[in-house]
Amino acid sequence: MGFKIGLLGLGTVGTGTAEILLTPAGRHPLLTEIEIAKVGVRSPDKPRDVKLSPGLMTSDLESIVTDPEIDIIVELIGGLEPARSLILKAINRGKHIVTANKAVISRYGDEIYTAANQAGVYVLLEASVAGGIPVIQPLKQSLGVNRIHSVIGIVNGTTNYILTRMSAEGVDFADVLAEAQELGYAEADPTADVDGLDAADKIAILASLAFGGRIKLSEVNCEGIRQVSAADIAYAENLGFVIKLLAIAERHQSNNLQVRVHPTLVPKTHPLASINGVNNAIFIEGEPLGQVMFFGPGAGKGATASAVVSDILNLVGILKNSGNNGQIHPLYSCSHQDYCTVAPIAELVTRFYCRFICQDSPGVIGQLGTGFGKHDVSLESVVQIGFKNNCAEVVVVTHDVLEGKVRAALKEIGSQDAIADIPSILRVL
Ligand code: HSE
Repeated sequence: MGFKIGLLGLGTVGTGTAEILLTPAGRHPLLTEIEIAKVGVRSPDKPRDVKLSPGLMTSDLESIVTDPEIDIIVELIGGLEPARSLILKAINRGKHIVTANKAVISRYGDEIYTAANQAGVYVLLEASVAGGIPVIQPLKQSLGVNRIHSVIGIVNGTTNYILTRMSAEGVDFADVLAEAQELGYAEADPTADVDGLDAADKIAILASLAFGGRIKLSEVNCEGIRQVSAADIAYAENLGFVIKLLAIAERHQSNNLQVRVHPTLVPKTHPLASINGVNNAIFIEGEPLGQVMFFGPGAGKGATASAVVSDILNLVGILKNSGNNGQIHPLYSCSHQDYCTVAPIAELVTRFYCRFICQDSPGVIGQLGTGFGKHDVSLESVVQIGFKNNCAEVVVVTHDVLEGKVRAALKEIGSQDAIADIPSILRVL
């Protein structure tokens, strides 16, 4: 056996990873040169679904990352600590890292990659974004010659499942969430998924690769799907859109880089509009390639383990070829030194969909038009779509406009007596 792995975590993805490594027949021949040397778990005596010798199990994770025999640490425990400390300790001992931990990388990528570059080791993270879909290595390698204009992803399966069901059944967010939790599709604490935080971690990582600099997570504008109602989904449908939680990183003609997560009206003709259920997809546009879309399972045991083991395989391939000589392969490393400048959301130029609840009296639609016009906001359509509690419900779609101008207009319009409420303000792709 050539290469020794220390596996931290034997949950769903850890089990899938071990299963692939223990059944190499029919896969890449290099897998036969990889040995699981130790497995770090909370309860070493717990019965497991995968056949590993009990002698490999330990609850002492530090002993794995400091073991001089181990070449590669596969971190699958998730969360921030002790994952961050264990990764750093392993790097300082000259070990290479494979991780699925988007939360650690999006927050501590600077510290981790600086340490890795100093130690001459790799940190590979294909599984951290969109589970089994290859997108990290493609961005680094196959798409590396392109000037990337935009990366637009449906990178959270839970929210895509909820929005797909809301759309198919005409039901509200809270009802689908409760059922998804009962079925185990959504976490008991769904915050990271439904408030967009998981997608924000992922787009920060993708943006960093696409635009060649580190991204401060605090600069990613992040809005979740709690505010999306069955009514908006129905109105969007009538206007020719579906609503998706998109994670977007794009460089505008003004050279502004925008990195954001929010529910978005997607034209039904756009390839991302047809991505349903728990599936993920990442739509990338660059020059000279044009458009390309990666689609597939964004989570799950086998899919995520496939990405983890592909990173292990890549590492073994590099190490076998070059030896562990401290020379870093530029197509597998992270060489960013600087942070990207991310523009504030007020500088975004996009179309908006706004829903108003207002008095059904003469001149109200005129008032809306005047309110927008005062702030230089040009309207594409204004439709009175119905009545709610004796009030008219009006939907406005704007032309492309600076977000700051729309916000200023809405603030002023919202303070008028004729406007009872503005329940939805959504961006349009
Ligand atoms: N919670 C994530 C999702 C999966 O719903 O897509 C792990 O990244």
